[in-house]
Amino acid sequence: MHRAIYPGSFDPLTNGHLDVIERAHKMFDELIIAVLVNIDKNPLFDLKERLEIIREVCSKWPRIHVDTFDGLLVHYAINKQADCIIRGIRAISDYEYELQMALMNRKLAPQIETVFLMAAESYSYLSSRLVKEVCKLGGSVDGLVPEIVEQRLREKMR
Ligand code: PNS
Repeated sequence: MHRAIYPGSFDPLTNGHLDVIERAHKMFDELIIAVLVNIDKNPLFDLKERLEIIREVCSKWPRIHVDTFDGLLVHYAINKQADCIIRGIRAISDYEYELQMALMNRKLAPQIETVFLMAAESYSYLSSRLVKEVCKLGGSVDGLVPEIVEQRLREKMR
């Protein structure tokens, strides 16, 4: 039984995240999408909204659970008896930061592996930050985020 954690801020969930979720779902018996509670930056979507969105979009997958976490990720992973942490890599520019985090997490908990998954190349430029910026400035994010995210973004921009 292999359980993986896919952690992140998910402010908001994008189709790039979803692509990684689908790939991880095929590889593990159970996948926990773990939303970070305390993010320093002011989130556009509060924790409740982010959870609602992910739960709705992922409800079709029975082996995927959505949860929140606070504190050290490895403590959460150990507590959930997970073997792996999943992180999505888009481009080489992501790699340095991700490698640093993965190695720190390995130092803290050597029994937990970090698995890097590449989202489809069509999402290689996509990030939650850019989605929010484009939306704020009146651009279309059609095809970049799930329908429910697009709707909620529209409501927020009104
Ligand atoms: O989607 P993000 O914002 O890139 O996710 C970053 C996240 C949540 C995975 C990272 O900030 C994290 O793990 N935070 C929890 C605190 C922690 O464990 N820090 C040490 C990591 S080396």
